[in-house]
Amino acid sequence: MDSIVVKGGAPLSGEIPISGAKNTCLKLMSAALLTEQPLTLMNVPRLSDIRTMASLLESLGCEVAMLNNGQVMVLRAGNIANAKADYEIVRKLRASFNVLGPLVARNGTAVVSLPGGCAIGARKVDLHMMALERLGATLELRDGYVHASAPGGLKGAVIDFPFVTVGGTENALTAAALAKGTTVIKNAAREPDTVDLCKCLSAMGAQISGAGTSEITVQGVDALHGATHQVIPDRIELGTFMVAPAIAGGSVELLGGRLDLVTAFAEKLDAAGVQVAETERGIQVSQTNGRARAVDVVTAPFPGFATDLQAQMMALMCTAEGTSVLEETIFENRFMHAPELMRMGAQIDVHGGVAKVTGVERLTGAPVMATDLRASVSLILAGLAAEGETMVSRVYHLDRGYERLVRKLSGVGAKIERVSA
Ligand code: UD1
Repeated sequence: MDSIVVKGGAPLSGEIPISGAKNTCLKLMSAALLTEQPLTLMNVPRLSDIRTMASLLESLGCEVAMLNNGQVMVLRAGNIANAKADYEIVRKLRASFNVLGPLVARNGTAVVSLPGGCAIGARKVDLHMMALERLGATLELRDGYVHASAPGGLKGAVIDFPFVTVGGTENALTAAALAKGTTVIKNAAREPDTVDLCKCLSAMGAQISGAGTSEITVQGVDALHGATHQVIPDRIELGTFMVAPAIAGGSVELLGGRLDLVTAFAEKLDAAGVQVAETERGIQVSQTNGRARAVDVVTAPFPGFATDLQAQMMALMCTAEGTSVLEETIFENRFMHAPELMRMGAQIDVHGGVAKVTGVERLTGAPVMATDLRASVSLILAGLAAEGETMVSRVYHLDRGYERLVRKLSGVGAKIERVSA
């Protein structure tokens, strides 16, 4: 199994191109099931999660063609041959549960595996199901699968989420697009991923207003049509690479990066003494004043501080001056990187959803283990600043969500390589 080896201490300089957003692209791909015409996605990131979603869609009867070296994807669900999303795929990729809404809306029936828990928490789907029931679908749980049917079609309704769910909002949106009448989604997710999905659905002929606010209104239409849509830049990849020069020192321009996608995160970096500036081509991040300063962070739905950037921020805080408190409010078990960072000399106390990090002057390289996607990348970031060599094993987690990570980081001077065992 491959590992990634990082030799710390090299300051970074140069530029890193930001890829298309994984989490957005996965949901856009599921929207292709809503029409028999082709949906063309541009700026697709080349990642194993994207390939997993493509194979799920193929198993449902959707044709998937990759063009332009994998950066353009043409999806055509001419005919849904089989409306069953198998456990073997859904358990690997939770976003695949989002085929439920489009399948019921287009086909009147669907069988989708329950995703089960995952390393970062229970991650329930009860609110996805509540939303579809509000739209008139009948759902039954059998053998670990959700059996959904709406023989007479879905009907518009008010869906009031008790708290923000990104996946739930997106399942509701795609289902409501083809429902009869008007759907109002209250307490809707405001994440850029959800806004981009609304934009793509609108290009396909959906009638949607309020995207980016907490109340989205969907006027159902009889059919959607094909469209071409450009996937937004990946805000989590962007935030991750913003930490790289902040922790290792130096100055890096993140090409295609947009500050509006990472406002809360950039404000925290600024408070930590890291220089963040918009440029014509993206965002420039520099750290030329030595160590960052400790800042406190509470994760929250967008526009708050993203849970997917908490591990990377913790890595930065490990070598900051002072003590910081990081509170995780979205997922109940999302500090698995803490014990691994402690193997590198970090001082961290975890109590429930709160981690207290006391910065040390220098981390030291160590063999560490990746546990999930964002946890793994925090270990790579810590390795950039550590004395000596850090070896991160189980890198298949990174392949799920970071396109050409080693190439991008070595391009700005990091001493990093992938080795096969
Ligand atoms: C979450 C993140 C999203 C991130 C994605 C990938 C938030 C609000 N969501 O989206 O930004 O890109 O992970 O890592 O930050 N929940 C239920 N019942 C449900 C659905 C959700 O109890 O039916 C709970 C979840 O367990 C979680 C919270 O609601 O505690 C938010 O979950 P949700 O936004 O749905 O998760 P994702 O869509 O995976």
